[in-house]
Amino acid sequence: MSVLSGKKILLGITAGIAAYKTASLVRLFIKLGAEVKVVMTPASKDFITPLTLSTLSKNPVHSTFYDKEDENELWNNHVDLGLWADYFLIAPATANTLSKMANGTCNNLLLATYLSAKCPVYFAPAMDLDMYKHNSTKQSLDKLQSFGNVMIPATSGELASGLVGEGRMAEPEDIVSFIEKDVLSKLPLKGKKVLITAGPTYEAIDPVRFIGNHSSGKMGFAIANTAANLGAEVILISGPSHQKIQHSFVDRIDVVSANQMYAAAHKYYNSVDIAILSAAVADYAPKNSASQKIKKKDASLEIQLAPTKDILASLGAIKKHQYLVGFALETNNELENAKGKLQRKNLDAIVLNSLQDKGAGFATDTNKITIIDKDLKQKSFELKSKVAVAKDIMNEIISKLS
Ligand code: CTP
Repeated sequence: MSVLSGKKILLGITAGIAAYKTASLVRLFIKLGAEVKVVMTPASKDFITPLTLSTLSKNPVHSTFYDKEDENELWNNHVDLGLWADYFLIAPATANTLSKMANGTCNNLLLATYLSAKCPVYFAPAMDLDMYKHNSTKQSLDKLQSFGNVMIPATSGELASGLVGEGRMAEPEDIVSFIEKDVLSKLPLKGKKVLITAGPTYEAIDPVRFIGNHSSGKMGFAIANTAANLGAEVILISGPSHQKIQHSFVDRIDVVSANQMYAAAHKYYNSVDIAILSAAVADYAPKNSASQKIKKKDASLEIQLAPTKDILASLGAIKKHQYLVGFALETNNELENAKGKLQRKNLDAIVLNSLQDKGAGFATDTNKITIIDKDLKQKSFELKSKVAVAKDIMNEIISKLS
C-alpha cells in the first residue's frame, strides 16, 4: 500500500506544455488510493481542459475566485482548498508562477491557495533550458526551497522549443515516486519496529471447544494500521479475529492460544522499538486439553484451569530499549488498578478503558481511554472511534520517544 493511499492531494497546474501530462498524474494518484482536487491558472486551460481533469479526479476543477457562469456566483474558497489538502503539488510549475510564489504575488486562485496552504508543498518546474538556468529563476527556486517547499527537479531532454537540455518536467511516474519517498522519509515512525498483540485467545478444552472472550481485535488492528501509516514496520500478532488488514508495512502473525501468542511475542520482542499489548489474553486455560471430544456423561463436568503466562509482564521483566505499553480493561477502582498493573509489569505506559464508560471496551467501534505514563501522569480522552483512539495512542507514544 502506498503512503499516499487515503491522502488528499491538491494538484496545481500552471501554463506550460507539460500540463498535458497532468492527466496521467491525476490517474496515478487515484490509482494509489489518493483523493485529488485540481486548481489551475486561467492560462493553463489552453493546454489541458478542466473537463478532462474533473472527469479523472471526480471533483470540480477551479481556476478563478468565482465561476462567472454559475448564477449563484459562489466563491471558490482558496483557504478551504489549502486546508483540505494533505499535500499540494504544483506541476508543471512555470518560471512565471515560481517567481510569483517566491514573491508572495497573489493574482490568481492557485497563488492564493498556495499562500493559504498549511500542508507540505511540492513543485515540479518545467520550462525551456535558458529560462531554467536564468539567475532569476534560480533565485526563485532557492527562495521557495528556503521556505520549506520541496522541489522535484526538472530533467534533461528534448524540450518543446526543439532544444535539448534541462527544464523538462519530471515524468508523472517519477513525480509520484519522488513524493512517496519524501513523505515516507519524513514519517515520525520511519525506521521503527512496532510489535502489537490484538484480539482474544482461545484455550482449547478439547478439539472442538474452547474458552475465549468477546474481543474483536478492532483496537489492536486500528493501532497496527495507524503505526504503519506513520512509517513503522509492524508485527501484528493476532488471536482469532475477523478483522482484515492490508498494509505493506504490516506483517500479520495469526495465533490461537495464549501460549502461542507468548512464543510469537518473545520471538520478535528483541528486534522492536515499541511493543503495544492490546490483546485480551485468557488469564486461565484448561490444565489438560482433551485429545478427543469430551462426551456428555454426568450431570456436571469439571474443567481444571491453570493460569496462562502473562505475556506483558514477561516482556516487562526483560525490557531493555523497548517502549512497552499495556492495556487495562477495568470495571472498578480503574485508575488504581491500572497504575498497579503499570508498575507491577514494568511498563512505560498503560491504556485504561473502563467498562463503566458507555461505548468503551470490547466489540464496539468506539473507545474512551486514559493513558497513564510511568511517572503516573494521566491524560484522558473523549469517546472516539477506535481509529481516532489509535491515533491518540500513537501520538502519545511518539511524543514520549522524542
Ligand atoms: N496480558 C498479557 N498476557 C496475559 C494477560 C494479560 O499480555 N496472560 C496483557 C493484556 O494484553 C493487557 C494487559 O496484560 O495489555 C492487561 O490485561 P488484564 O487481563 O486486564 O490484566 P491482568 O494483569 O490479567 O489483571 P486482571 O485480570 O486481574 O485485571
